[in-house]
Amino acid sequence: MKKYLVIGNPIEHSQSPLIHNYWMEKYRLLDSVYEKRKIEKKDLKDVIKELKDEKIAGVNVTVPFKKSIIPYIDELDQTANNTQSVNTLHKEDNKVVGYNTDTLGFLKTIHDHYNFATTELAVDAPIRNFFILGAGGVTPSIVASLQFLVGRSPGVIWVSNRSKNNANQLKKLFPKIELIEWGECPSVFCDIVVNTTSVGLKKDDKINIDFTDVDKKTLFYDLIYSPKETKFLRDARLRGNKTINGQMMFLVQAREAFRIWTNITPEIDDEVIRLLNK
Ligand SMILES: NC(=O)c1ccc[n+]([C@@H]2O[C@H](COP(=O)([O-])OP(=O)(O)OC[C@H]3O[C@@H](n4cnc5c(N)ncnc54)[C@H](OP(=O)(O)O)[C@@H]3O)[C@@H](O)[C@H]2O)c1
Repeated sequence: MKKYLVIGNPIEHSQSPLIHNYWMEKYRLLDSVYEKRKIEKKDLKDVIKELKDEKIAGVNVTVPFKKSIIPYIDELDQTANNTQSVNTLHKEDNKVVGYNTDTLGFLKTIHDHYNFATTELAVDAPIRNFFILGAGGVTPSIVASLQFLVGRSPGVIWVSNRSKNNANQLKKLFPKIELIEWGECPSVFCDIVVNTTSVGLKKDDKINIDFTDVDKKTLFYDLIYSPKETKFLRDARLRGNKTINGQMMFLVQAREAFRIWTNITPEIDDEVIRLLNK
């Protein structure tokens, strides 16, 4: 039996087993199973050993271990290294390699939304500004994606986080970002406002930032996908802005992890979306 795992703490809420077990069945990988495991920091070393001993075939890493797993890994892919964030592990040539597929997940959804060939967010746009709320574990993946989109334009990535400490850590990793006080909005047009905080997971959660003057062309993106529409997204929709939730990003990062482990690129079909929406 080939065993795959998602490790984290807490882990009960993880929907990764739903997706991966569905794809394993669909692609007839009948000797494979995907499970969740709640671990403590002290268990990280043992998980890597299980991977090396081939007791586990692949691992997804979630909150709060995406950074703290790094010292135990033999090799990082470029994105994992840039973001210091690992969400997928695989053994290759006797080495444990750490990947970051969150970055691709976010970038792909932005790419699809704007349909780059034809759009507002044209690849050669002269200026591109983005505004990120939060500086937690997933935020480096979003900064890395947006830096790619800023490209050679003189645009700025603004970041606002409740605690200064986490904001400063992010600034160390990405010196070009501009930090602004929690509660404030950049005074320039931003193509996208992304919520990477966990505010919105609970129904009544509210982000205390006034977006009423934000341009209608700004896209509001929330990484949260359950609930499907956070207050942040609902308010934006009611103001007339376009919105995206985190569901497709989640599916694309899972698809990429599945590809790394099995060499099969699974389809994001209606059934897998239905499973997540149940
Ligand atoms: N769609 C996807 O594929 C995907 C992937 C990963 C994560 N996510 C979602 O992204 C969110 C963040 O994940 P993470 O791993 O980065 O979590 P994390 O490391 O725990 O970071 C949480 C972030 O939320 C902020 N925050 C928490 N409570 C707050 C409050 N009451 N007011 C203001 N800010 C608050 C924290 O600010 P401080 O620094 O001040 O504590 C920090 O910036 C989660 O909701 C998660 O579900 C989605």
